[in-house]
Amino acid sequence: MPYSTTFANDLLCGRTALITGGGSGIGLGIARAMVSVGASVVLVGRREEVVTAAAAELNGIISSLPSTTEAKAVGLAADVRKPATLEKVMASIEDDEQLPPLAVVVNGAAGNFLALAEDLSPNGFATVMGIDALGTFNVCSAALPLLRKGAEALGSPAVVINISATLHKPATWYQSHASAAKAAIDSLTRSLALEWGALGVRVVGIAPGPIAHTPGFAKLGGAAEGVYDAIAKVVPAGRIGQVTDIGHAALFLASGGAEWITGATLVVDGGAVLYSQPIMPRSVVASHARSVEAASRATGLPATKSRL
Ligand code: COA
Repeated sequence: MPYSTTFANDLLCGRTALITGGGSGIGLGIARAMVSVGASVVLVGRREEVVTAAAAELNGIISSLPSTTEAKAVGLAADVRKPATLEKVMASIEDDEQLPPLAVVVNGAAGNFLALAEDLSPNGFATVMGIDALGTFNVCSAALPLLRKGAEALGSPAVVINISATLHKPATWYQSHASAAKAAIDSLTRSLALEWGALGVRVVGIAPGPIAHTPGFAKLGGAAEGVYDAIAKVVPAGRIGQVTDIGHAALFLASGGAEWITGATLVVDGGAVLYSQPIMPRSVVASHARSVEAASRATGLPATKSRL
């Protein structure tokens, strides 16, 4: 069990998690993490065959768990841009008597591609905004009644986890559309946290850095030869991310241990967003600093003037 060493095996027992974009990549990684600690999972994606296959994989994990659990995984086809399809998802969750109360929603559905801003059509920009930003709002809005019921039934707050990115902190080449969409998601996380705390719903976010073996990273050029190694050299934590890193973050944020966290977006990127080229090699820092101080003492001038 990849998660049981870090989190209690029953962390999310008796809870259902709805995960959009759950058929692959980060969404599926979060789903694996959640079923590993007892959750039932509803995967939502546009392609029925993809979410059905992913749900079958998750049911395999569930049946291999040591404890007897009533949990199950289900795949449902819906488009986060189409609120009517989301209403059907909520109705089928409510009608399914085998599913425990809805306690977690993960907004993982996203669309992206590399594009020069000057070549991007208004519809191209709107399409990514529509999937990521509007889609996140649509799902939150459709799920709220069930989340409120879930919180009441379980006696603890329900949780929305919005997946954004670090693209917009500060800016990323050829990603004007996705950066705007992810900034909107982070803003929505704060606004909904403010308004929905009183309704028994926490709203948090995860901003993943580069994650290996995901369709999202591959679309941004991440699948090219040598990219993972190149990233490892500039990420402070020394390696590219894995979907399990995001799964762990999601488990923490969904758990009672995060009960006082709402409105925050957790950057999970090994420090990648902090990287900048060092201003000088590590090996010369100490000698440089001492030589500047020595010159300053010799001239009696402040260090900045002694260099002039
Ligand atoms: N560069 C520039 N514009 C692009 C583009 C690209 N690579 N891909 C699509 N577009 C534009 C289209 O030209 C169109 O605009 P137009 O009508 O002005 O020509 C607009 O985006 C919509 O494209 P369309 O293919 O009709 O949208 P869709 O809804 O079928 O697909 C996408 C949405 C484009 C985001 C598609 O890549 C997708 O479905 N992605 C989901 C999976 C994914 O991206 N995963 C990674 C998540 S990080």
